[in-house]
Amino acid sequence: MNPIPISSKKTTFELIAKTFHGLEETLAQEIREIGGKVIAVQTRAVRFETDQKGLYRANLELRTALRILKPIHTFKAYKSNQLYSRTQLVDWSEYMDVDDTLAIDSVVSSRFFKHSKYAALKVKDAIVDQFREKIGKRPSIDTDAPTLRVHLYVKEQEVTLLLDASGDSLHKRGYRLESNEAPLNEVLAAGLVLLSGWRGEKPFFDPMCGSATILIEALMIARNIAPNLQRDYYGFLTWKDFDANLWTEVLEEAEARIVGCEQPIFGADISEETLDIAINNIERAGFEDEIDLLVGDFFEQAAPIEEEGCIVMNPPYGERLQPKDIEAFYKKIGDAFKQAYTGWEAWVLSGNIPALKRVGLRASRRMPLFNGPLECRLYQFEMYKGSKKTAFKEE
Ligand SMILES: C[S@@+](CC[C@H](N)C(=O)[O-])C[C@H]1O[C@@H](n2cnc3c(N)ncnc32)[C@H](O)[C@@H]1O
Repeated sequence: MNPIPISSKKTTFELIAKTFHGLEETLAQEIREIGGKVIAVQTRAVRFETDQKGLYRANLELRTALRILKPIHTFKAYKSNQLYSRTQLVDWSEYMDVDDTLAIDSVVSSRFFKHSKYAALKVKDAIVDQFREKIGKRPSIDTDAPTLRVHLYVKEQEVTLLLDASGDSLHKRGYRLESNEAPLNEVLAAGLVLLSGWRGEKPFFDPMCGSATILIEALMIARNIAPNLQRDYYGFLTWKDFDANLWTEVLEEAEARIVGCEQPIFGADISEETLDIAINNIERAGFEDEIDLLVGDFFEQAAPIEEEGCIVMNPPYGERLQPKDIEAFYKKIGDAFKQAYTGWEAWVLSGNIPALKRVGLRASRRMPLFNGPLECRLYQFEMYKGSKKTAFKEE
């Protein structure tokens, strides 16, 4: 591919949205819903075609995207001097000025380039040298908040240079500054709710809510609130082709799509200290009037007054417990479902797959998902009305 100048009049272009393993199809569906044309669903990524407005919408609205990248140049390279010279085929003044700042991220899986940091250094040198040769000055490096973040991807001899439109991971929505010990990533929390199919049509409960990530993501889904409306940093805001009017239009349209949620959304946790963190996060998100919290042990709670609803939860995986204790804990979760939640459905994510099997109810769906590097399963349990008797018989 020849380098694509940013001033190119081509109205549509390809983007790559990155996500967690297991959420690729969910992300592809979200991309279609904002009008993007899915080209390929890959491992931890979806390639799609869109225009400038779609690039802005993708960053603001995709709940299961971690980053949006824009490929600008691909080439083959076997040696570092080729990496250097072919990076210089791009006219980098199309993308940045000498007073802008630069950072290079890299993902390298290649027999020819064994060290990703060294490959990134070559690309950085190629870019700054191009400026120095042309105007006698070079741009500075800023790894935290550069005005241009370039992503280098190398697979064997295939090299792709991409611009990072997000600039930083999109899970940083802006509402969670504090967290408990094992918070769920916001992108994964949103993915769980989307996978459950719940869209606000019945009550929602997370009985072990920790810092309230699932609850906040669920409320934003029910109310059609773009997940990143509160975020003020994106890579594309400092791109040379940034269109402020178009961005304002995207923000205004997202605001106009917000709806209400009639159904209760509530959470609980056994730890008062953790709930203080949850309260702060919910307040920061501006949802203090819409999410109810209570301190309590799930196993001692009275049955809810609602006859039906959806539970999405992420119980402890039991790293600090004996296997027999954590398996007994998961059995108690199943007992609580059977005794107090007939008519409800529950989605349970856990990295402790043997323990998850001890819930003791037949899972109607089992899905592999990754919480960072940890392989997890999301199980769906349906506590049909009238099955209470059968459930007791099983014990
Ligand atoms: C893995 S964390 C949940 C993290 C949460 N999804 C988040 O994003 O912050 C599990 C939570 O279960 C809570 N917990 C443990 N046992 C409980 C019980 N019996 N009843 C209610 N909550 C419990 C813990 O206090 C902890 O906050």
